Parts: sequence; structure tokens; C-alpha cells
Amino acid sequence: MNGHQLVRKILNGGGDVIAKNLRKILVLFVLGFFPVWGVKGLIGFPERNGDVSGTIALAANSGDETIQGLNDVCADYFLIGTAVSERDFSGSRLELLKQHFNLVTAENAMKPEYAYDRSGENFDFVEEDELVAKIEKEGLALHGHVLVWHQQTNERLFKDENGNYLSEEEAVANLRRHIRTAIEHYGDRVISWDVVNEAIMDNPPNPSDCRASLRLTSWLRTIGPDYVEIAFRTAKEVLKENGWDHIKLYYNDYNEDYQGKAEAIYQMVKELNEKYAAENDGELLIDGIGMQGHYNLNTDPENVRLSLEKFASLGVEIGVTELDVTAGSDGNLSEEDAQRQAQLYAQLFAIYKENAEHISRVTFWGMDDGSSWRSDQNPFYSRPILNRNSPFMQLSILIVF
Ligand code: XIL
Repeated sequence: MNGHQLVRKILNGGGDVIAKNLRKILVLFVLGFFPVWGVKGLIGFPERNGDVSGTIALAANSGDETIQGLNDVCADYFLIGTAVSERDFSGSRLELLKQHFNLVTAENAMKPEYAYDRSGENFDFVEEDELVAKIEKEGLALHGHVLVWHQQTNERLFKDENGNYLSEEEAVANLRRHIRTAIEHYGDRVISWDVVNEAIMDNPPNPSDCRASLRLTSWLRTIGPDYVEIAFRTAKEVLKENGWDHIKLYYNDYNEDYQGKAEAIYQMVKELNEKYAAENDGELLIDGIGMQGHYNLNTDPENVRLSLEKFASLGVEIGVTELDVTAGSDGNLSEEDAQRQAQLYAQLFAIYKENAEHISRVTFWGMDDGSSWRSDQNPFYSRPILNRNSPFMQLSILIVF
């Protein structure tokens, strides 16, 4: 059976095909995007290291064919998530969301900037609550993003009304109050939180020294390197007080395929967890490491594997939290780049499948190119098909290796 026949069979209800080809098919992922007419064709998947062959199908689905939801396909491995905002809860976007995803992250709504009113003085969760109500209505799990970050944050947490930095004491009090209020507000409507986001610099000169590897942010300026530990300990405290021990606390970052950055993150999580465990009967402080996964055609998947395995060796869970692969620019994507992009998605999913026991979720950072934060760089390969005047497309990635 050639790749094309295999793909067609699997798309037409492939349980038997998978069973018969179990040795050959180690993993099957169907990633669906908006429905469109007709199968659009296949992309050959070049051999990797001489011993791996495979096929990726980029298949558009006609209305009467049903493609299994990506969340169903991955049910035995990990949750499948996407970033959402208000616009995703009606019409075809909602259908797409329900078809393929069982977990969501608010793309912006739950960031520290939006937890306050205009003055920055008072908490205000009105819009967030409307979004969370919609998420709950659809029965989707919710990942909380994010408590402590240097971007999209209310500056009043670390600066006074004249723009001067607050004292360490004031900044710690604000950090703790923000974390406490947000966690208590959402309660167990979330399954996990990004407690600290993007705290480590991209190319730390001495990665084994995690404190010296911290990015220079307003939190570091006001509080010093302890702010990461203070943040996690505060979050943990609130979970314990409320009996929410099942909610997982994550450290989240990007470019973790850079080995120096991965080393600094590894050291930081190791140090904080060992210290906490020694005081708390072996309990973890940081439950998980989020690998955002904003990749591009220069990303070497073997570096992703190395970092993932390194993090997993700490006994924490791994979340792929913001996956997208950019290719091309200005909305243009050559056929060659589209193939390389599809190949990279396939290679990444192969790595995720192999490490599934350590991975809690794979969350895409959006559902289509048009609404992606990196819309111009075609992260989901949906634009070329959308441009054929069809508002809907279905992109399926089938990995056979
Ligand atoms: C991005 C959103 O997608 C954009 O809409 C927003 O303008 C900026 O933030 N790392 C993160 C995410 O943790 O919160 C960012 O999301 C992307 C990078």
C-alpha cells in the first residue's frame, strides 16, 4: 500500500488499517482545520536519517467525509489544546474548536494586564469571566495563562504613578496579591497555571548559574532573583489553603530548543524543586515545564527532543503550550517551504508521541493562519487554501513512520 492509499483508508475510518500496519504506523495524527472541498493532495515525507520514511497528508475534507478529531486521535497520549478568544465561541470557529480540541488557553484574556480596571488599582475580571463561562459551557478544560510575566502586565505592580520602581517590599506584596487573587478567582475552573513565563534569557553566558541567567525584567529589578521562587511558593500556598492540589503549576518559556537556555531552566526548576521537596516530604513545587514551541523552519527537532527529555528527567510533566511553526513571510509560502513545515510538524509530533508518558498536553497557538499572532508567516498552512475563496479548510496531518 502506498502512502496515498494508506492516507485515504485512514481518513475513511482507519481503525483496521492502523491495526494491520501497527509496526509501520507508530503514530497517527490528524490535525483538522476549517473544512473545504476535495482532498488537496499529499506531501511526500523525505527519509530521516536514512531509516525513517513517512507520509504526511495535507488533505482537505469534503463536507460529507468525517475526520476524527485530533483530540480523539491523541486521547491515549495527551490533551490537545488551542489558544482562544471570544471570537472562537460561535459559528464555524466554535465547530472547529469542539471537533479537535479538549483544552484551551486564553490567548490574552487571563494575562496580568487584564485582571485590573483602567486605573490599574482594582481587580476586574468581568470580561475574563464571560470567556471562562463560554469555555465551561463547551466542556473544555482550561489552562491558566499567566500569573507572572514581563509583558502584558499592569505596570502598577512594580512602578508608582510617576513610573519609578517600587521598593522590594512593595513589589513582593503586589506580586503575592496578584497571584493569590487570580488563583482564588478562577479556582478549580483551571487545571493548571503558568505561574512564571519567560524568566530566562535566550543565550545565558553561564547556563549552570540559573540566577545569573534570569532575564532583566521589572520583577527582577524590584525583587531580585528570588521572585521566581516567591511566585511559585505563593501559588502553592493558595492551592493548599483551598484544597486545589490537583491544579498543576508550570514554568513556561520559549526557545527551549536552545541548549544553553534549556540548561538554565533545568537548573532553576531543579534547585527550586529540591529545596521545596526537602522541606515538604518530597513534594514538587513546580509540577511542569511548558515548552511554548514557537518554531520555524530552522528549528532542529533533535534539539526539541534533547530539551524535552532533559526536562522530563526532573520528574515534572511537560506541556507543549503554544505550538506553531512559521514558514514564509508576508503571507507567502512556497511549495518547498510548505513541505518543510509539514515535515517539521510531523517530526515534532513523532517526538511528542515517543515521549507521551511525560507530556500532559499539546496546545497550538491558534487555529488558523488568518487569526494567528504570526499570521504573516503562515504558521498553520491554512492561508493558501483559504485564498482559494473558501472560508473553510480542513488540514490533516498524517504521520506514518
Ligand atoms: C501573544 C498573543 O498571541 C498576541 O495576541 C499578543 O499580542 C502578544 O502575546 N508567549 C506567550 C504568549 O506566552 O502569551 C504570547 O501570546 C506569545 C508568546
